[in-house]
Amino acid sequence: MAGIAAKTGHQNVAMLGIGAYRPRRLVSNDEICDVLDSSDEWIYERSGIRNRRWISGDENARTMAAEAARRAIANSGIPPEKIGALILATNSWKTKIPHGGPIVAYDIGLNGIPAYDVAAGCGGFGYGLGIAADTVRAGSAEYVLLVGVETMSVVMEPTDRSTAFIFGDGAGAVVVGPSEENGISPTVWGSDGENAEAIGQNLDIPEYMDRAERMQHLDPETDPVGRMYVTMEGSKVFRWAAITLPKALSSVLETSGLAADDIEVFVPHQANARINELMKKNLGLADEIPMANDIENTGNTSAASIPLAMEEMLATGKAKGGQTALLLGFGAGLSYAGAVVTLPPAPGRTSFDDLG
Ligand code: UT7
Repeated sequence: MAGIAAKTGHQNVAMLGIGAYRPRRLVSNDEICDVLDSSDEWIYERSGIRNRRWISGDENARTMAAEAARRAIANSGIPPEKIGALILATNSWKTKIPHGGPIVAYDIGLNGIPAYDVAAGCGGFGYGLGIAADTVRAGSAEYVLLVGVETMSVVMEPTDRSTAFIFGDGAGAVVVGPSEENGISPTVWGSDGENAEAIGQNLDIPEYMDRAERMQHLDPETDPVGRMYVTMEGSKVFRWAAITLPKALSSVLETSGLAADDIEVFVPHQANARINELMKKNLGLADEIPMANDIENTGNTSAASIPLAMEEMLATGKAKGGQTALLLGFGAGLSYAGAVVTLPPAPGRTSFDDLG
């Protein structure tokens, strides 16, 4: 009897190009405090946020994801038709059915490729990167497009003091594919469902409404479906982060075969500048090692935060393509995922010639 065919791909993989889309509208802490009982000083001191970007006009998750994806492909120099799969990391895509991946693939002219969503809270990009790398390693696709996109402003309650000042909108994308040298370590990932409710939503739709009750709520003005927003017990998540993330980071380093001294750039999820400062200190990373601080003017863009933060560092010269970076995403689930990577070329370049 003939054996079932198997295939393997390329063991050495890397991020070959990066692209981002930041909404046009900048929203200051003062503007947030028009409706939120808080202050610019409190927000900046507790979170490191001064501004965030929110969609306006014709911008939405679909347009942002497609634009970031197009830019990543162009920056990778890979012909679009070689992209063999698309992974969309998102928590705020407006429908569960249909999921967003196929729509984004269609919008960028890649209708037909395997395309699907990954929902893993703010750790979504880290999860997606691991899946993308393993997809190339397994030979299931040669080039994978990974897009993180969020419109958190749409799923947020503007008067909720625990979330309203934190979240922002945006999209970031990378192309993952074969590389001469390996540029993505094995992923270290995990979850803690025991504390799942620390980040959630105010309404659990299936439990909230049986079918009869659902039928009474068809008026969009009163339908609770229309009023779903994210909830967070911030200090509980902060404490969880303080215990879980240092262990995760040590494990990422160990798994990558590198030491803290080898890390040239630190790109943690942009949830809170204070959490990030603490992690950097605990890891023993030298002060001069650049750390992403995109949160200051972009806010927390959940699954889009790591590619947006990488892109900001590369575009402004704070980091250079080819440098070794430590990434760590974390958030709802609760969950986390991290890896050591080689940074892709800065936007607009298709090689590491910016490394100097
Ligand atoms: O991206 C997903 C992962 N998410 C995270 O990692 C978030 C982690 N958590 C955090 O970033 C922080 O917990 C926050 C920035 C959300 C909040 O900061 P905090 O230092 O943990 O504040 P807290 O909730 O412990 O509240 C401290 C004080 C309280 O007052 P008292 O009891 O000390 O008098 C709150 O009532 O600050 C008060 N407070 C506020 N004051 C002004 C809480 N929220 C606000 C607010 N504005 N928005």
